[in-house]
Amino acid sequence: MALVPGRSVLADHLPGGSTVRYDSITEAIGNTPLVRIDPSVHGLRHIDLYAKLELLNPFGSVKDRAAWNMARPHLAAAAARGSQVVELSSGNTAKALAVLAGMHGLTFKSVTNRMRVPEIKDLLLLLGAEIEELPGQSECLDPTATDDPLTLFHRTISEQGSAYLHTDQYFNPRNTEAHLTGTGPEIVKDLDGRAPDWFVACVGTAGSSTGVARVLRENDSAVRVLGLVAAKSDFIPGIRTLDEAHEVGLFDPATYDTIEAVGSDEAIEGMLTLNRRCGILAGPTGGAAYFGAVRRLRAVDAELTEDDRRQTAVFIVCDRVESYLGYVRQRRPDLFGRPARTNSPADLTEEEIRTAPSVGVADAQAWIGTGRPLVVDLRSPFAYAALHIDGSVNIVDEVFGELLRGGLPFSRSRPVLLACPVGEKSARYAALLTRMGHPEVRSLAGGIIAWRDAGAPLVRD
Ligand SMILES: Cc1ncc(COP(=O)(O)O)c(C=O)c1O
Repeated sequence: MALVPGRSVLADHLPGGSTVRYDSITEAIGNTPLVRIDPSVHGLRHIDLYAKLELLNPFGSVKDRAAWNMARPHLAAAAARGSQVVELSSGNTAKALAVLAGMHGLTFKSVTNRMRVPEIKDLLLLLGAEIEELPGQSECLDPTATDDPLTLFHRTISEQGSAYLHTDQYFNPRNTEAHLTGTGPEIVKDLDGRAPDWFVACVGTAGSSTGVARVLRENDSAVRVLGLVAAKSDFIPGIRTLDEAHEVGLFDPATYDTIEAVGSDEAIEGMLTLNRRCGILAGPTGGAAYFGAVRRLRAVDAELTEDDRRQTAVFIVCDRVESYLGYVRQRRPDLFGRPARTNSPADLTEEEIRTAPSVGVADAQAWIGTGRPLVVDLRSPFAYAALHIDGSVNIVDEVFGELLRGGLPFSRSRPVLLACPVGEKSARYAALLTRMGHPEVRSLAGGIIAWRDAGAPLVRD
């Protein structure tokens, strides 16, 4: 463009619309864009697919809305009392709360049963958070304790008069409310006052999917809601498996017309499509939402014709890719110039897992007595330290997975008994070791919980 002397460039280029000057970064939470995915990418002919870009919230995720809505009413009083903000979170909620606490002169503590994404742990420390890692009940701790430490901690910090500002994201209705008043209405507004035909969201605390679904259904009761969870025994940071979702206070299965599972490999595949082809730097759950949406909508699209009304679908992109490079590298080393993944339980067939060699508690006890298998306990060090099978060694499942990538970690002549909390992970690894040529490996059926329930002996460190 040629500059014309005497003409004001500024006057010609002043944008219209509302101002984006703020007094506080918290004013930048919400009002995220809705961006259409190019049909040449998803291939749907009769459905317009939109991404709600929650990754553009100022602290990086959809949880900025919930964290701010839950904490805001209590921050001033907490600052006056000198309380600490505390939340059971190892991810985005913790990140947003750490920032909000710091902005208000407060400290923040993240309580979690396992920090599984190292970049997020480092980021939380960088933001000044204190991190307390506790084992959860699923790890099978002391059978004489009536409650697991996480439950006890939850109760302690929820008590009246506690010195904590506990935001309680799994039970707090203000989590859902953030999406009832923000995310949901924004989607309707950006679709010219209409709800989409389909809404797709991953389920973590269920706050975003529940809040948005409620708004959309109020607008149009015909909207179909697809909830996505992580596949059983798989891990997608930020979302739950179906079993885990049922433990969440805000989760109501009636919110969803369908709940489907997405695997971590599928989530990464969806993420790569968004990253590379759409310019959307989504993390794995954004990828899971895209993958799950297209998988479901493909069947719908096939039934539609040119004469039908075009349909609209919206999925949520919760956060950004940068925090998950280690997670992705572990599953897809080929993307980082390394040899492709080998010996991964994710590559097993359902049939291999179903027929993995296993042994019940009584036979396992007899086997330990006579065959002297190497007993490998795949649980966390906390759970192992609390109680374990005498003589067993502790190799946490992720570390065990890493070991297997390099080939069989022990001699073929030594029988192996694998134990995990309920026998699911150990079955996968037993199938994998069998595939790798180990002649005598077994999974402890029902895991340490079955062992404990049968009254078999356990020892403490
Ligand atoms: C990365 C990521 N994706 C998805 C979700 C799910 O959101 P919600 O808790 O509202 O169900 C979360 C929640 O923590 C998350 O951190």
